[in-house]
Amino acid sequence: MTRHFLEISDLSVDELREVLDLAMAPPTSLLSGRGVALLFEKPSARTRHSSEMAVVQLGGHPITVSAAEVDLDRRETAEDVARTFAQYHAAIGARVFDHAVLERMAAAVDASGFGVPIVNLLSDRGHPCQAIADLLTMREALGSDLAGRVLTYVGDANNVTRSLALAAVAMGMQVRIAAPEGYQFDASELAEIAAFAVEAGEGGSVLQGADPEAFAEHADVLYTDVWTSMGQEAEAMERRAAFAGYCIDADLLARTPSAVVLHCLPAHRGEEISADVFESARSLVWRQAFHRRTAMIGIFTMLAQLGSIQ
Ligand code: CP
Ligand code: NVA
Repeated sequence: MTRHFLEISDLSVDELREVLDLAMAPPTSLLSGRGVALLFEKPSARTRHSSEMAVVQLGGHPITVSAAEVDLDRRETAEDVARTFAQYHAAIGARVFDHAVLERMAAAVDASGFGVPIVNLLSDRGHPCQAIADLLTMREALGSDLAGRVLTYVGDANNVTRSLALAAVAMGMQVRIAAPEGYQFDASELAEIAAFAVEAGEGGSVLQGADPEAFAEHADVLYTDVWTSMGQEAEAMERRAAFAGYCIDADLLARTPSAVVLHCLPAHRGEEISADVFESARSLVWRQAFHRRTAMIGIFTMLAQLGSIQ
């Protein structure tokens, strides 16, 4: 059965650790003579470039297409686009508005027996490739054993938060999510992360509240993302008001003397992060961006080890 990578929880803890190790190993030529299709419904700087360069470093040839180019679900269904790409490519990555589109693509290639994995390059639900890069960055900064470390996320409980929280609890981290009411995970979403922590068995935990100051105390990592994600632009004004105070600035950073600061980028200085913190020595955002490429090498190599890339 083809294994897809739509969310961090598609991997076991052992597999997740293996992805991290593979990401740091010299790339092999496992994609030699093969293609990887990368489909984007939304803009991207890091994801497109890190994915393309990872494919090149694995000996393959990336082909990036915009959703407009194939006119997804108008000219042709997402199922038929995925099954077309499966005729030429060893893997398919896609960035979509609606996570269900990824699930439809995966179901279609599975039902047709084409044996090509779908990789989530960001959906409204998750951003697992980012979360792998986040783990690599945290391990580099804090040591390879992240168990017991405190990760405080400040801002919108969104796609990046979900994948990050799943990845962090799997490593045994204590995840605290500080988000204003109305922008927090609902009970079932939180329960899903807590259940993955239990399944992982590494002692990880997740806590959610509305107080960034309290949650920043003794944190090892402070993490934030934009208040308004792609596709939510119409809510930007309302969100700016709701998120006032949910900013990683010097005052918040002072609550925890040694924490490093992460941001998946793009950043909005003066909103979720202050310009001085963004540029400070404690900010690891460029190392995090660097690890987007190593993460993709780990993910593609793991999919090959699992037999999903043949
Ligand atoms: N962090 C991230 O996914 O960046 P892009 O949207 O630029 O790909
Ligand atoms: N939450 C953001 C992440 C961008 C990488 C978005 O979905 O737009």
